[in-house]
Amino acid sequence: MAELRILGIAGSLRAASLNRSLLRAAVGLAPEGMAIELFDLASVPLYNGDVEAAGDPPGVAALKKAVAIADGVLMVTPEYNHGVPGVMKNAVDWASRPPGEAPLGGKPVGIIGASPGITGTARGQSQLRQAFEFTNSFCMPQPELLVFKAHEKFDAEGRLTDAATVEYLQRYLAAFGDWVRRFAPAVG
Ligand SMILES: Cc1cc2nc3c(=O)[nH]c(=O)nc-3n(C[C@H](O)[C@H](O)[C@H](O)COP(=O)(O)O)c2cc1C
Repeated sequence: MAELRILGIAGSLRAASLNRSLLRAAVGLAPEGMAIELFDLASVPLYNGDVEAAGDPPGVAALKKAVAIADGVLMVTPEYNHGVPGVMKNAVDWASRPPGEAPLGGKPVGIIGASPGITGTARGQSQLRQAFEFTNSFCMPQPELLVFKAHEKFDAEGRLTDAATVEYLQRYLAAFGDWVRRFAPAVG
């Protein structure tokens, strides 16, 4: 059977982003039969209905195609002011278009996140989950992965060094693989 194709999206544009580092760790820890490809949101402009009406810009077209061909999408979100950062929400907004034919419609989705604080993106993840109700995506309910005090869990090169978080991430990815297979039983 073919490998599960997971699209990984980090909701931060920072080179040294903790969430990008978490996503890179996920790539390395993906279980057998799962491949995680990364999409960089730097190429995606702010949503504008006039721009959309004139035709999706290249970064948007690439994002929508990447979501469409993925078996599942893994969102790795920071938390800004107790919510989803605009960079991440903007990606969801573009990929929710057009209504009825949106790449995110019916797509299995997982949400994880990392922050230096003690709540580990709990509120940001919760808010992002709400958006997937409207996009009609299938957001995995459990398990959750909240990487708190994340600055203590990666080394200077962004490698995940915390053994417990490695284990949680492996467990999360295994569960996410099972979740995605429910919607693509012929794959993986
Ligand atoms: C505008 C702004 C708002 C923030 N608000 C929160 C917050 O509500 N909760 C939290 O845990 N961290 C908050 N932080 C800290 C971020 O979690 C931290 O900068 C984190 O490293 C961002 O993710 P990244 O490393 O992937 O870029 C905020 C940071 C910024 C820049």
